[in-house]
Amino acid sequence: MTLEGIKALSDRYVMNTYGRLPVAFVRGEGAYLWDTEGKRYLDFLCGIAVTVLGHCHPKVSEAIAQQARTLMHTSNLYYIAPQAELAQKLADCSVFDRVFFCNSGAEANEAALKLARRYGHEFLDGRYEIITMENSFHGRTLATLTATGQTKYQKGFAPLLEGFKYVPFNDLEAVRAAITEETCAILVEPIQGEGGVNLPADDYLPGLRQLCHEQGLLLIVDEVQTGLGRTGKMFAYQHSDIRPDIMTLAKGLGNGFPIGAMLATEEVARGFEPGTHASTFGGNFTACTAALAVLEVIAEENLVENAAQVGAYFRERLNRLQAKHENIVDVRGKGVMNAIQLSAPQARAVQDACRERGLIVNAIGDHIVRFHPPLNVQREQVDEAVSILDAALAEQTGK
Ligand SMILES: Cc1ncc(COP(=O)(O)O)c(C=O)c1O
Repeated sequence: MTLEGIKALSDRYVMNTYGRLPVAFVRGEGAYLWDTEGKRYLDFLCGIAVTVLGHCHPKVSEAIAQQARTLMHTSNLYYIAPQAELAQKLADCSVFDRVFFCNSGAEANEAALKLARRYGHEFLDGRYEIITMENSFHGRTLATLTATGQTKYQKGFAPLLEGFKYVPFNDLEAVRAAITEETCAILVEPIQGEGGVNLPADDYLPGLRQLCHEQGLLLIVDEVQTGLGRTGKMFAYQHSDIRPDIMTLAKGLGNGFPIGAMLATEEVARGFEPGTHASTFGGNFTACTAALAVLEVIAEENLVENAAQVGAYFRERLNRLQAKHENIVDVRGKGVMNAIQLSAPQARAVQDACRERGLIVNAIGDHIVRFHPPLNVQREQVDEAVSILDAALAEQTGK
């Protein structure tokens, strides 16, 4: 199908919820994508932090194909071997003991919110209120939309859920002041993703942990975007040496196969019992087999370390670009989760100019350009991306 054909069908039949860019990809391999015209792109977005191993990693594709030929789905009425194995592997590489599987980031957060509320109901004298951060993003279901501290996503969906409070990100005193006798949990992204790649101060997550400890609250980390090696650690909370009570994952877990997970400590997992939460598709054979292959490849190919090293090199190159382009006012990130902030509202223009030149990046609002290359990105690919970005930025300023 041509781009025009795909566009015409989409515009006519697909629900009108996305503002789409004028391109349709038809094939992917590693860090590269090809469109309907056969044009090649270096992908520094990875489906918004999803294809952590690059596109169509042979081990993952083969594992999915083989499982699809054997058994795809039975339901959680029965035991599921790859689900049990995946839960064990996730527990082994984190501080958590138990896992609930679902199909997306929003569902993982929905499960976390429900677990926190039910734990509050059962073990914290009925506390139910949850504190979240301004500028956060947690998903589009009604509960996760309510948890999301950005009014632009909430407009038109009132009444939202009761029992949520918002405080500025990186402000421990604001959190302390917001805690009431009804508070049961604090929900935070270790690095805010959709909010613009906002990093926490060094004492922020340990401070939240300490506050939760003092006040008997649960600390929930939303690692839907930061998890699975993206920040140069397997999970971003590990930069702070803390033990959260609940963590959510999705995006990179299946390298493109839809799967989400909500992990909790043994203590907090007591909040759920049979019948309290469920998902028909959650943790089925195919999804868990894909995720097991992802974890295997991350370990075998030492990709968390690669993300840390090549990510640092990328920031170094971006810093050099900042010295050249005065419209870059900030370079920030960790591992392969990075962004530049522009002084003028040119993020979309830069995104489009990069795409014209064969590089996929993502504008967040008017001023931020975000990069999510795969964990196995190579220095030469960073060089290629930076040189395209350099040209795209120069086009904006005429330099
Ligand atoms: C931190 C965070 N949480 C939750 C979500 C929602 O995930 P999904 O779109 O898979 O529902 C996102 C999506 O961007 C995210 O970045």
